[in-house]
Amino acid sequence: MNDFKKEVESNIERLGASEEMRRLGVDFLVKTADYRYSYNFSWLGRPIIQYPQDMIAMQEIIWNVQPDLIIETGIAHGGSLIYYASILEMLAISGLSDGRIIGIDIDIREHNRAEIESHPMYKRIEMLQGSSIATDNISAIKERAQGCKKVMVVLDSNHTHEHVAAELEAYAPLVSVDSYCVVFDTVVEDMPPDSFPDRPWGAGDNPKTAVWEFLKKADAGGVLSAEGDAVKFVVDKSIEHKLLVTVAPDGYLKRIA
Ligand SMILES: C[S@@+](CC[C@H](N)C(=O)[O-])C[C@H]1O[C@@H](n2cnc3c(N)ncnc32)[C@H](O)[C@@H]1O
Repeated sequence: MNDFKKEVESNIERLGASEEMRRLGVDFLVKTADYRYSYNFSWLGRPIIQYPQDMIAMQEIIWNVQPDLIIETGIAHGGSLIYYASILEMLAISGLSDGRIIGIDIDIREHNRAEIESHPMYKRIEMLQGSSIATDNISAIKERAQGCKKVMVVLDSNHTHEHVAAELEAYAPLVSVDSYCVVFDTVVEDMPPDSFPDRPWGAGDNPKTAVWEFLKKADAGGVLSAEGDAVKFVVDKSIEHKLLVTVAPDGYLKRIA
């Protein structure tokens, strides 16, 4: 490892060891949530409901994994779909892979669909309308993933424990070894309990509690791939340590077996 890489790794380790820095990151999220900060951005012209730091991490993951399929639940205006598609396009231009992304949303508004379908990145996108946990849709996506060598999953739809638990059960086993299942908005667990009065999720009932339950089951050998192998994930803590500002603490799950 060269000196620069070593120094970066050591800085990230120091950040990870600092409770003060972790707290600063969470405080930034809590305070900016009042201003609906995650709605401030767009990617290649489409609104993207994300914190920019997480998107840099997603770029690093996609570049390293070089997935041939990304599955994303939760499309909204399509910004993240276009974002991931554009990284896949850059991988393709570089001759490294030829990936596609399939997005599913329970409600794809007509104007959003029209904008996404007319976007230059649409060539790498497929969309499905319906609930991500409906049996038919899960089957369709599983079929789509068949034969793909490197699959990555991003969960960003309904953020209740029950819904994310069902998504993890359906989609996490599709993730390839060394690839990622990224679960957004796990940070809800770390925010003040009254942060989302108009939402069905909150402290104790959110993506992070679903991740914890899923990891317990997977660690015990209770999550199987289509081939019948026990699927194992770890939380890639180095990502949240480097970001500090992330909506996905404990949400960057790397499949290790
Ligand atoms: C946070 S937004 C997605 C943001 C998008 N990924 C982005 O980064 O711009 C959540 C989306 O999940 C969708 N959604 C809610 N319940 C769902 C369900 N059961 N199945 C699929 N999508 C759902 C909503 O319609 C909404 O568009």
